[in-house]
Amino acid sequence: MGAIDVRFLTPGDIGLLRDIDRSEQLEVEYTVESGSLVSSKTSMYVPPWDPSGSGDHSVSHLIAFCSPHLDQGAQLLGAFDEEAIVGMALVEPSLHPGLGWLALLHVSNGRRRGGVGQTLWNAAASIAHDSGANALYVSATPTGSAVQFYLKQGCQLAGPDEIVEELFALEPDDVHLVCDLSSTQPGNDGRLS
Ligand SMILES: CC(C)(COP(=O)(O)OP(=O)(O)OC[C@H]1O[C@@H](n2cnc3c(N)ncnc32)[C@H](O)[C@@H]1OP(=O)(O)O)[C@@H](O)C(=O)NCCC(=O)NCCS
Repeated sequence: MGAIDVRFLTPGDIGLLRDIDRSEQLEVEYTVESGSLVSSKTSMYVPPWDPSGSGDHSVSHLIAFCSPHLDQGAQLLGAFDEEAIVGMALVEPSLHPGLGWLALLHVSNGRRRGGVGQTLWNAAASIAHDSGANALYVSATPTGSAVQFYLKQGCQLAGPDEIVEELFALEPDDVHLVCDLSSTQPGNDGRLS
C-alpha cells in the first residue's frame, strides 16, 4: 500500500461509500456495565452493504443518515491509495460548543490495520480542533476493532455528564466515547489535500 492521501470530499461524493467494503468477521464485542467496558467473544459475519436495497444495512440508508449532517456543515473525508478510495469519515466539527462528533468512519476490508483509520482520525480531529472543539465524541459500534481503535486514539468512555443524549438515544448499544483534543496540533499528519 502506498502513502494514503486524505482528501476533502463534497456532499455530492457521498455515493463513494458504495466502494467501501464494510464486511468484517467479528470476534470480540463490548458492552458497558456499571461504567466499565466488558469484552466478550463472539463470532458474527458483517456482510457488505446492500448496494441496491433500502434496509438498515443498505448504502441508501447510510446516505440518508449522512445527508442531514452534510447539509448542516459536516465534512466528508476520503482516504485514497492513488485513485482507489480505501476509507471514509464524516466529522461534524461543532456538534455542541467545544465538542466535535465523528459521525462515521469506515476502512475497507482488506485495507485495515495499515494506518488508514489512524490517518482519517488525525484529519477529523484536526478539523474539529481547528473549528474550536476541545473534544471529539464517538458513538462507536461495540466491536473489538472499533473500540480498540478508538481507545488507541486516546478516547475514554463518556461519563454520565459527557453522554450526548440525542446520540445515546439513537444508539444505546454503542460504546459512547470522548477524546480530549486539547493536545491536538493543527495541521498534524492527516495529510489533507
Ligand atoms: C475501526 C477501523 C476504522 C480501524 O481502521 P484501520 O485502518 O484498520 O485502523 P489503523 O490501521 O489505523 O489502526 C490504528 C491502531 O488502532 C488499533 N486497532 C485497529 N484495529 C484494531 C483491531 N481490529 N484490533 C485491535 N486493535 C486495533 C491498533 O492499535 C492499531 O495500531 P497497530 O495496527 O499498529 O496495532 C476499521 O477496523 C473499520 O473500518 N472497521 C469497520 C467499521 C467500523 O467499525 N467503524 C467504526 C464505527 S464507529
